[in-house]
Amino acid sequence: MQDFQIQRLGHHGDGIAEGPDGALYVPMTLPGERVSGTIAGDRLEGVKILEPSPERVAAPCRHFRSCGGCAVQHAGEDYVAAWKRGIVEVALKGQGLEAAISGVATSPAQSRRRASLSARKTKGGALAGFHGRASGAIVEVPDCQLLHPDLMRALPVAEGLARVGGARKGEISVLATLSEAGLDIAVTGGKPLDEPLRMELTTAAQELDLARLSWEGELIVTRNPPFQRFGRAQVVPPPGAFLQATHHGEQTLLSEVLRITKGAKRVVDLFAGCGTFALPISERAEVLAIEGDRAMTAALQEGWRRAGGLHALKAAQRDLFRNPLEGEDFKGIDAAVIDPPRAGAEAQTRALAEARVPVIAAVSCNPVTFARDARLLLEAGYEMGELLVVDQFRWSPHVEVVAGFTLKKA
Ligand SMILES: C[S@@+](CC[C@H](N)C(=O)[O-])C[C@H]1O[C@@H](n2cnc3c(N)ncnc32)[C@H](O)[C@@H]1O
Repeated sequence: MQDFQIQRLGHHGDGIAEGPDGALYVPMTLPGERVSGTIAGDRLEGVKILEPSPERVAAPCRHFRSCGGCAVQHAGEDYVAAWKRGIVEVALKGQGLEAAISGVATSPAQSRRRASLSARKTKGGALAGFHGRASGAIVEVPDCQLLHPDLMRALPVAEGLARVGGARKGEISVLATLSEAGLDIAVTGGKPLDEPLRMELTTAAQELDLARLSWEGELIVTRNPPFQRFGRAQVVPPPGAFLQATHHGEQTLLSEVLRITKGAKRVVDLFAGCGTFALPISERAEVLAIEGDRAMTAALQEGWRRAGGLHALKAAQRDLFRNPLEGEDFKGIDAAVIDPPRAGAEAQTRALAEARVPVIAAVSCNPVTFARDARLLLEAGYEMGELLVVDQFRWSPHVEVVAGFTLKKA
């Protein structure tokens, strides 16, 4: 056993100490703490906290020690918010940028409306939960503090589906989403689909009272169309489609996007998904919504059509990495929303800047690519407004941001 001092938190939320051969990762510790333990590779095992940090709190969830779903439940809320803000500041600094950060909006506990669970058959039946801390084993989490109470039902559902369609060895991955019509479940990693399994899964969907069940990308049954509400519109996303992780996070991002694009009459929504931003914006402006996934694009357009009474909205499928919107495509557009995947949107951002779209609301789940793309805009003559840090993956190392960019007057 040796003693170490924790110097900082790493990208995954582990404490980092200086070991004899470089960085030592010590989960569930905080900067300033003195700890003891045994070195095992680049980790410290059998950790004892000798001097706790004043920021340390009792983890709100009894599963925190064993479950790998959360990384930083051992720190107070203000500390975690400051850490996430720091992650954004460091990413911006890496590009030589600074931003006025207006705050950190953290989603409440028990508010996640979608989760990726793991489940497998056991000798006696089945078990479901999250992977354990630094282990591949599934940990059951009946008192999880992350999931919305209505999503907790996905745990027994995942067990039920593992019993029916789990391979003898190996796990199924169960993406569970709360919809207004009940649970929307998409499973991968199970037994290959054949007619008998399809029939068993159809029966299971009924017994488990699922709104919809799909298996390895194939629809098994839709008992109630699992719709999501985006403003006045209702959309039935295709199975497994992207959705913001919490209602709180979605509303926070949306209200920033609406604030930034206020007054615009024609808005383009790039990487539009199923219409999280495009549909509420179409309550007050014309919208061109571009999304790479064909089924999501169709779901968005259909949601708009069924809502009726909204401003004109055209949804189009397009690969914005290979084929960004540019030049004439932006004719008459006075604001853009851009919300790319983690890789960011370098080519599309360049094209937006070249087309001199006056206002851009940029949403991102990766501060590093956000900072890279923000720099392109600033170098092209835009000003960055206040930036809001959005934490809808509370107790995890994920961070999201939203900020507005306005073209400076010549
Ligand atoms: C972070 S999500 C945002 C979706 C939407 N704005 C929302 O808030 O629900 C990113 C979206 O980009 C889409 N996407 C990924 N790669 C793309 C590409 N190369 N071209 C266009 N869209 C893409 C994904 O399908 C996904 O819907």
